[in-house]
Amino acid sequence: MARTPLIAGNWKMVLDHQQGTLLVQKLDWTLRDARHDYSAVEVAVLPSHTSLRTVQTLIEGDKLSLKLGAQDLSAHTSGAYTGEVSGAQLAKLGVSYVAVGHSERRQYHGENDEVVRAKAAKAVEHGLVPIVCVGEPLEVRKAGEHVGHTVAQALAALEGLQPAQVAALVLAYEPVWAIGTGEVATPEDAQEVCGALRAAIADRFDAATADAVRILYGGSVKPANIASIMRQGDVDGALVGGASTDAGDFAAIVRYRDHPA
Ligand code: PGA
Repeated sequence: MARTPLIAGNWKMVLDHQQGTLLVQKLDWTLRDARHDYSAVEVAVLPSHTSLRTVQTLIEGDKLSLKLGAQDLSAHTSGAYTGEVSGAQLAKLGVSYVAVGHSERRQYHGENDEVVRAKAAKAVEHGLVPIVCVGEPLEVRKAGEHVGHTVAQALAALEGLQPAQVAALVLAYEPVWAIGTGEVATPEDAQEVCGALRAAIADRFDAATADAVRILYGGSVKPANIASIMRQGDVDGALVGGASTDAGDFAAIVRYRDHPA
């Protein structure tokens, strides 16, 4: 089965809604000029919650082909959870994707596998596509246990989902040591883990599910390294942090197919 590549920009807590508007406009113009085929490479932006409504209005009003994503959602349905944002609220805003289990949430907000599983399930319940983030810290990589660690995180997050639900979601392999450090994993490193994740899904669910699920790489993705990463058989796209807040860089990443081999 042909999996449509996805390039998703995780803006983190960097841009306000006005900066986000400018970025989306510039990105759209740049990709329009380049006649980008959104059906060949899907593009999503993940602004802060405070910018979602503004970016959604822009996407809808100007009929942009960009998809909207959120960076997190609540594990709860609704009610007295001060500061939280529910899957239903995001769905109502036209959000398509939502990151769950990003390493910064695991690290700074104590999200463990159980929380990540609950959030992934909530996203699916509300018709959002979760981008389930997994990846090893440096000491696990140094110990040579990165594959087992990452596969265990992914299977824990997917527990309880049906094969069709797993087939429709997105996994993102983001080695923690490569996030925001400029330390990019080699294309072979990315392929090793993305391939292992797909094999584990075939094993736990079935071959058709593993064939359908999209697996992204994330961690210091830049215009200069995206093409070689995307040449790996089990890498179906990228989750881009720092470089996604620059319209020129992000557009260049989206257009990786035009880069010289
Ligand atoms: P980075 O972040 O591209 O800045 O390394 C990736 C991410 O955290 O999703």
